[in-house]
Amino acid sequence: MKENEERKEWEKIPSGAQQIHEKNIAPLDTASAPPRPHGSAYMGNYAAPPLEKIRVAMIGLGARGMALLRILSELEDCEVVALCDTREEARRSAAVELRDRGKAEAASYGGSEDAYLYMLERERPDAVFIDTPWELHARMAVECMERGAHVFVEVPLATTLEELWTVVDAVERTQKHCMMLEEVIYGRHELMFLNMVRQGLVGDLLHGEAAYIHDLRDRTMSSDAGGVAWRVQHYAGRNGNLYPTHGLAPVAQYMSIARGEDTFERIVSLSSPSIGFSTFAGQTFPSAHPWNNTDFLCGDMNTSIIRTRLGRTILVQWDETTPRPYDRKNLIQGTAGVLADFPLRVIGSFVPDEKDAADHSWYTGKEAWDDLYARFDHPLYRRLGDKLAPLSPRVAMDYIMLYRIMESLKHGTALDQNVYEAALLSAVGPLTEKSVHEGGTPQIFPDFTRGDWQHTKRASYLSTGRTHLRRS
Ligand SMILES: NC(=O)c1ccc[n+]([C@@H]2O[C@H](COP(=O)([O-])OP(=O)(O)OC[C@H]3O[C@@H](n4cnc5c(N)ncnc54)[C@H](O)[C@@H]3O)[C@@H](O)[C@H]2O)c1
Repeated sequence: MKENEERKEWEKIPSGAQQIHEKNIAPLDTASAPPRPHGSAYMGNYAAPPLEKIRVAMIGLGARGMALLRILSELEDCEVVALCDTREEARRSAAVELRDRGKAEAASYGGSEDAYLYMLERERPDAVFIDTPWELHARMAVECMERGAHVFVEVPLATTLEELWTVVDAVERTQKHCMMLEEVIYGRHELMFLNMVRQGLVGDLLHGEAAYIHDLRDRTMSSDAGGVAWRVQHYAGRNGNLYPTHGLAPVAQYMSIARGEDTFERIVSLSSPSIGFSTFAGQTFPSAHPWNNTDFLCGDMNTSIIRTRLGRTILVQWDETTPRPYDRKNLIQGTAGVLADFPLRVIGSFVPDEKDAADHSWYTGKEAWDDLYARFDHPLYRRLGDKLAPLSPRVAMDYIMLYRIMESLKHGTALDQNVYEAALLSAVGPLTEKSVHEGGTPQIFPDFTRGDWQHTKRASYLSTGRTHLRRS
């Protein structure tokens, strides 16, 4: 009976991109948070009871799920016990991955959209990784937590503000972890910048710049991997910054957003015309192809600006449809210096004299990078150095993220990212949709912590130092 009621509740939440868009542009009061339901508790610094061995289940074994499975299957004290995907071919490939690595066979679940529910009941995993299309994240996350599992969800956490609140409420009700799998905060440069910021090397933080600029037209439009095209449906039906977290999460972390110091206050957003996908489709597919008969709503380049409670500003850009080199910007500007990336370049009193900020030239290039790594590599990066050495920078980020998750679950310590950060970062999607729809109006961020961000501690792996604005 309870399950039927839950299903009905979820049926009301739209899954199509157009319905998501309609929901996101509808009038909504985001300035006041609904009261915390009775029996729920704030989870910002939550540490779960320690686990000796972590029994993991995975839902979604496409491009991303397989990448994470390869690492999870190698981690100590982590056992992949169940694999779920609607595509049989995906389940088979995942089983081969485990077998080739000499791991125990995992139970396989598929055959229907709801097979994961059966998997949860039968396997009772400690932790579930959700690597499915965006519109399924919130529903699956809540159902996992309701069935006793910690949950780790791909980016973004959800697609509407209503879904984000539903996930936050479920975390507070079930007392389970729900972490968004934002691996970019573990990039070598991102960790190094965090280390430098916390040492006060750039002074008081004023401004950040973040982006996800990645020409993905070919990958998203041409794939026949059973579903990457779901992402293109979102570009067809929605217009805003639909994928903000990779660039934004590290900048938010430098500023200690939602962790005692500052939080996002408002955002304004504008999108360029939408030409990239339709041009690419015209050049690539026959005229009868669905992408040549689709009106794409999403602008090719979305540009947004966030203002924080302390009055700091963050530029956030998103573009997956133009011929342009990959860029996440990763820029943090303080009163005493600036750290920036793509390529790595910095200015401040910590650079050798001859390249002083006063001469307006960046400290950059191979020698400068080696010097910066030698002096400022993050302690976490140094600690895992041997394990990271054989990995590409891209895989190294995932490795650190998954390593840290297992470490925290095993020792019963707080995770590095909490659900409130996930919700705040993911809220950029719906809020920019609304702002763009209204010609760039400011949108207020909901306070998913209901005021509790003010006493939330920083993540344990680097909690010292100050970055707050000097107040005279
Ligand atoms: N963190 C990163 O760097 C990164 C990179 C790529 C993708 N992603 C995220 O990962 C997620 C998956 O993206 P992807 O590129 O792997 O997509 P994909 O289409 O390759 O994989 C999605 C998988 O989910 C499966 N699936 C769909 N509905 C299901 C259901 N009801 N039950 C079980 N399985 C189901 C599909 O069959 C498919 O195998 C997305 O949220 C995306 O944003 C993150």
